[in-house]
Amino acid sequence: MATTTAQGLEVLFTRDQIAERVRQMGEQISNDLAGEKLVMIGVLKGAAPFLADLSRSVTVDATFDFVAVKSYAKGSQTSSGAVKLIKDLDEPIEGKNVLVVEDILDTGLTLAFLRKLFLQHRPKSLRIAALLDKPSRRVEQIDADYVGFSIPNLFVIGYGMDFSERYRNLPDICLMPPDAV
Ligand code: PRP
Ligand code: MN
Ligand code: MG
Repeated sequence: MATTTAQGLEVLFTRDQIAERVRQMGEQISNDLAGEKLVMIGVLKGAAPFLADLSRSVTVDATFDFVAVKSYAKGSQTSSGAVKLIKDLDEPIEGKNVLVVEDILDTGLTLAFLRKLFLQHRPKSLRIAALLDKPSRRVEQIDADYVGFSIPNLFVIGYGMDFSERYRNLPDICLMPPDAV
């Protein structure tokens, strides 16, 4: 039987499953960047819990930065691909090892936009960590270097992910009930 939360939401990944996978991702990132410095860039708002946990699983010398984007394709039938930067980086990333931290890679519009933008700043390296990946939804050709879980096209909430700004603080990743959408 599927696990459900106190609110009756079906759990897709429990907090323990998330913690274990994040720990493994942190270990892999630490191995790949051994002896290097790292700038972890969180994509607001969804990536906040993942960045907080992933950063504490990473043993390399890391700093944080944050960007915020707005996607105009959201909620419309047409994937116009219009993504706008709402909040820019605070510090230059030229010559630095960058890890873009995202909660979910869906159509790829957000990360394709950010990758192109960040590469213009000539970082030493650029990697992407996405806790969830929905490859079947891809519009832009982009892959993450580190993926927590690959999932089918499900509406997921919790651990940073929202439905109309709600549910970001759920500790487990849950399924949005179809009748509530
Ligand atoms: C969500 C999610 C990713 C993005 C993925 O963010 O957190 O950032 O969508 O979708 P894509 O691959 O189709 O671009 P959203 O734009 O909802 O903002 P939020 O993080 O503030 O919820
Ligand atoms: Mn987001
Ligand atoms: Mg959102």
